[in-house]
Amino acid sequence: MPTFKIAVIPGDGIGKEVIPEGLRVLEAAGRKFGLSFELTHFDWSCERYAKTGRLMPEDGLDQLMKFDNILLGAVGYPGVADHVSLWGLLIPIRRGFDQYVNLRPVRLFRGVQTPLANRTPEDIDFVVIRENTEGEYSSIGGRMFGGTEHEMAVQETVFTRRGVDRVMRYAFDLAQKRKKHVTSATKSNGIIHTMPFWDERFAAVKQDYEDVRTDQFHIDILTAHFVRNPDWFDVVVGSNLFGDILSDLGPAIAGGIGIAPSANLNPERKFPSMFEPVHGSAPDIAGRNIANPIGTIWSVALMLDHVGWPQAGRAVEDAIEKVCESGPKTPDLGGKASTQEMGKAIADAV
Ligand SMILES: NC(=O)c1ccc[n+]([C@@H]2O[C@H](COP(=O)([O-])OP(=O)(O)OC[C@H]3O[C@@H](n4cnc5c(N)ncnc54)[C@H](O)[C@@H]3O)[C@@H](O)[C@H]2O)c1
Repeated sequence: MPTFKIAVIPGDGIGKEVIPEGLRVLEAAGRKFGLSFELTHFDWSCERYAKTGRLMPEDGLDQLMKFDNILLGAVGYPGVADHVSLWGLLIPIRRGFDQYVNLRPVRLFRGVQTPLANRTPEDIDFVVIRENTEGEYSSIGGRMFGGTEHEMAVQETVFTRRGVDRVMRYAFDLAQKRKKHVTSATKSNGIIHTMPFWDERFAAVKQDYEDVRTDQFHIDILTAHFVRNPDWFDVVVGSNLFGDILSDLGPAIAGGIGIAPSANLNPERKFPSMFEPVHGSAPDIAGRNIANPIGTIWSVALMLDHVGWPQAGRAVEDAIEKVCESGPKTPDLGGKASTQEMGKAIADAV
């Protein structure tokens, strides 16, 4: 029986509530498809930071290196600055393991309401591919003259040909397996060095994919098209910042942030990849057992796909849709079910 070693990091807040449901569905898929999972739990979180001054131990990445993949809930909690939780755990894992593709599917499941009028599941089914290791989220920059009236802050954006090309190639390869259409998110009218470079690389890379249709939009109008014309999109590729914003807007038109999954991929499989819901630790609802577990469960489906069992991933997605159509739903989807009731229903449907 194929066995996969999974590092499990529930993190903070609702991360600790949704991860058990993700694991419940993972085990159900394992039983159905003859797969087994060796799970190791880590308490890396803001709670740990409060006690030890570190979200993860110094040799955290060495510890994770022994695993096939990582399943993460969410980190961040009031009292610990958000940049501490992001740069103390998530970004070191994404960068240390060269997880340069952040894949975020957006799909309207049957049974889930979209805030957009007259849209059906056929209209909303695309994937945002976000560059995940460089771009606007760089650590180059600094501050000077703190506390004076000359105070200043500089933050550099870093686009490399290697970094831009490889994420674009991933987007084109994915489009070839889907509807053969890639949209590039740009802003080369206002950002006059990095974004024209992004456009040039897009034009160069697309030469190798003659069967794929392309277009590009400035990020401002692109956000409007997500709302007005979601049926235009198949694969949308964007820089770290643009991809981040688009991949919250996408779920907003497809039923909400509680549903959205993500995969931080090292496509070459040299390092473990990490799977996590898009949402954060939601301190406003933490501890009430009403968090929607679908974002985590769908992330588990992406993980099954990545380990080479797409049929298992598909079965999990089908189970999510079945429960959305006629099963118990958490309050964010208009129901009254608890996190566990929804998780159990999806596991049963698998
Ligand atoms: N990947 C991550 O670990 C990650 C991502 C985003 C935010 N955060 C952190 O999480 C904390 C809270 O951030 P935020 O409030 O901006 O974003 P959030 O995603 O935690 O919450 C935004 C809103 O969506 C709701 N929501 C989120 N997930 C839900 C779910 N599964 N079911 C139902 N409702 C859900 C919340 O109740 C809240 O009203 C911060 O510390 C932030 O840094 C972490």
